Amino acid sequence: MAIENKVALVTGAGQGIGRGIALRLAKDGTSVMLVDVNATRIEAVAAEVAALGRKAAIFVADISDRAQVYAAIDEAERQLGGFDIIVNNAGIAQVQPLSDVTPEEVDRIMRINVHGTLWGDSGRGEKIH
Ligand SMILES: NC(=O)c1ccc[n+]([C@@H]2O[C@H](COP(=O)([O-])OP(=O)(O)OC[C@H]3O[C@@H](n4cnc5c(N)ncnc54)[C@H](O)[C@@H]3O)[C@@H](O)[C@H]2O)c1
Repeated sequence: MAIENKVALVTGAGQGIGRGIALRLAKDGTSVMLVDVNATRIEAVAAEVAALGRKAAIFVADISDRAQVYAAIDEAERQLGGFDIIVNNAGIAQVQPLSDVTPEEVDRIMRINVHGTLWGDSGRGEKIH
């Protein structure tokens, strides 16, 4: 699929895999909307995208909240002129014995890893999984 000049939204773009995906997309020619709970990190990644000669925008959002994910999509359209690709990368992992996991922790993991992906997928645009 040709992705040059498309607009991609990457969640959890502030570090790790999400940052790597965002920079790869920029190298392949997309503009990138960087979404994360951590503003400082996505500001730094936006500078890296700009250094590659591509447009970047940032939006601070908790992906477990559907309204915040939809607002990020709206902002990609407003600032970057479209919304073609979403990468639902943000997520959390907890490594501990199952017997130590609390119901509250399970709820949080489900809200971020499951609901967050659903809110991203239920937005508009072409999907990459
Ligand atoms: N690294 C691995 O070996 C591995 C293995 C399997 C799955 N994964 C999954 O791949 C994804 C990226 O992994 P990583 O190692 O780069 O993770 P990471 O923890 O290094 O980075 C995750 C990023 O997502 C952001 N984030 C977390 N919760 C968020 C929320 N509610 N809303 C918005 N942003 C949020 C964090 O601020 C961070 O910038 C995660 O979903 C992770 O669970 C990673």
